[in-house]
Amino acid sequence: MRLLIKNIGTLAGIDESGRIRVAGKEMNNIATLENCWLLTEGERIKDYGTMDTIPSDEGCYVVDAEGGWLLPSYCDSHTHIVYAGSREQEFLDKIKGLSYEEIARNGGGILNSADRLHDTSEDELYSQAMERVNEIVSMGTGLVEIKSGYGLTLEDELKILRVIRRIKENSPLSVRATFLGAHAVGRAYKGRQADYVAHVCDDMIPAVAAEKLADYVDVFCDRGFFTVEETARIIETGAKYGMRAKIHANELAVSGGVEVGVKYNALSVDHLESMGDEQIDALRGSCTMPTMLPGCAFFLGISYPPARKMIDAGLAVALASDYNPGTAPSGNMRFVTSLASIKMKMTPAEALNAATLNSACAMGESKDYGSITKGKVANFYITRPLPSLAFIPYAHQTPIIRTVVLKGKVVIN
Ligand code: NIG
Ligand code: FE
Repeated sequence: MRLLIKNIGTLAGIDESGRIRVAGKEMNNIATLENCWLLTEGERIKDYGTMDTIPSDEGCYVVDAEGGWLLPSYCDSHTHIVYAGSREQEFLDKIKGLSYEEIARNGGGILNSADRLHDTSEDELYSQAMERVNEIVSMGTGLVEIKSGYGLTLEDELKILRVIRRIKENSPLSVRATFLGAHAVGRAYKGRQADYVAHVCDDMIPAVAAEKLADYVDVFCDRGFFTVEETARIIETGAKYGMRAKIHANELAVSGGVEVGVKYNALSVDHLESMGDEQIDALRGSCTMPTMLPGCAFFLGISYPPARKMIDAGLAVALASDYNPGTAPSGNMRFVTSLASIKMKMTPAEALNAATLNSACAMGESKDYGSITKGKVANFYITRPLPSLAFIPYAHQTPIIRTVVLKGKVVIN
């Protein structure tokens, strides 16, 4: 199928350079073209140009953008959207003054979600997760990474990963799966963390790999969760089974998670609310993408990562939503870019690059996603006419999306 979009007011996020990430000062550029058309063929972007060169629409499905903007879909490289129910009781506890760690110590947090997930059927989990999938599709996300980690037993981890596989097969989104067995120590292993880590490495990873259920492996490397040594062991085991690492690092403390991620060439180290200059230095010259999740800092009321310092140090950075029931109950990537601008002083262009090309890179997928590029997957959305790029994060709750195209198909119009 061919899709011809005409009368695009501004085509934004164009990149024909072949780069897989954008770093430092370059992050502040978003290439645009005014008064355009764009043609897709099958799942891919075929061509684009200015309206004076528009090709014949014969055999094409035509969409009139009516002067709106066309932007590459957001790539959300860090979510936990397969979970059962919600956790607003903890939200109330937080309002009363309890911290995230206190809630976790009292048996809330991740273990609370694991209990609920255990009692929820695979079909029910799938239908709850699909509601969140449809929600993020309508908000402009086109490629998403989804983690397990609310199972914490072999059987329940497989249950979540099978739900993620069903989402991959049935939703218009492009989906990548991450095994996060080391999200917390499962209840049956209370007080026996080393045994749980052995279980993750010796039983869970091989079983997940046997069903080809995960693209990546993740570990919550932080104070009160998993140590650097445990993280290294899990990364090494995942690597043997072809899973690249994406690490939860430095959310609650300077945990060593950044350094261990860089050492093992992880695809990304995520969170980074607790970062010193040494951690920024550790990231220099590495391929590991520092990924920030400001929706989590916003919800928990903790400090934001030092995005400005990282970009000014020449690093590439990515943004993701962390959509999960405990620390970031929203997958709204546009709001994530607003928080990046308002709270971390990233410019709208930097935030957009971080939420598209660089977040695709944090999944190893930026050759195919994250910009308007001939040959890349045709994942984009069309807005109503906008005064400028900055309007998008500025007017953060004003609805702007009119049309969503994923893999070359119109999914919302
Ligand atoms: O990314 N930090 C660890 N994991 C999630 C929170 C999980 C939860 O509380 O349910 C996060 O913030
Ligand atoms: Fe997370």
